[in-house]
Amino acid sequence: MKTVKPNILKEKSNSTLGPYRCNSEVKLTAAVIRKFQDEIYSFYKKNGRDLPWRMTSDPYHILVSEIMLQQTQVQRVMEKYELFIRIFPDFYSLSNAPLQKILKTWQGMGYNRRAIALKKIAQKIVNEFDGNLPTSVETLMTFPGIGRATASAIAAFAFQCTTVFIETNIRRVFIHYFFPDTENVKDSDILPLVEKTVCTSNPREWYYALMDYGVMVKQNYENPNRKSAHYKRQSPFEGSNRQIRGMVLKLLVQEPNISARQIGQKLNTHKDKLEYIIAQLVKEGFIKKIRGKFTVR
Ligand code: ADE
Repeated sequence: MKTVKPNILKEKSNSTLGPYRCNSEVKLTAAVIRKFQDEIYSFYKKNGRDLPWRMTSDPYHILVSEIMLQQTQVQRVMEKYELFIRIFPDFYSLSNAPLQKILKTWQGMGYNRRAIALKKIAQKIVNEFDGNLPTSVETLMTFPGIGRATASAIAAFAFQCTTVFIETNIRRVFIHYFFPDTENVKDSDILPLVEKTVCTSNPREWYYALMDYGVMVKQNYENPNRKSAHYKRQSPFEGSNRQIRGMVLKLLVQEPNISARQIGQKLNTHKDKLEYIIAQLVKEGFIKKIRGKFTVR
């Protein structure tokens, strides 16, 4: 596996890398588009990452990887992706698997609702689409856990569709390159640029290249996404609640059929907070209560 170690000077502010400066409206000439594409592709040629989900065009593998990558770092996904695919090699095996087994395999990824969504997606594909992932972004968006960006990424990576989308690395590239002096950049300012610059002959490779360039920008420049109108810092409170949710699920996978009191004792968590989290997990369908004892669904 190639590791990215770009040989680019560290530059923390006043970037002068981009050939084009803009404040609100960017007018792209053919020459600017060409220069931008050349810059992205020449970086990618030297530094592109050989990630396992880029070695395949199996739509199921690509779907699993994109759901995993929604909220989990590449490094962590690399540890789980191959195991997940080995245990659940296709839509059929995933749709038939007990949720408990899926959650156990998912452990360490966080945001467990994505594992539930994956099972529901697999069931829908098997029952309504004859086991074939649809190619249309609009149809993909009707599946649980798949928004426009994920649907567009899947369509580009699995089917070479020329979709237009923004995710965090792509956003970073465009802000860095086209909006170096602008605050509060909206995705609606960026999307037209994504559309005009997308490489229609190979959208799959183009978006890989953009994402890898975005990682390089993150490593070498002050985070341009701070200038995004959509930038959100994660709150420490949300983080800790999420952590306890994960701990409860992990415990119930290992020790099904225990009471709230036993969960509290084992996790050493404040009673009120735990009650709230357990109620949420029941409401969202992750766990069920039978005769005062909790089990993963
Ligand atoms: N390669 C394909 N999809 C990716 C993603 N979402 N993040 C990073 N690399 C990817």
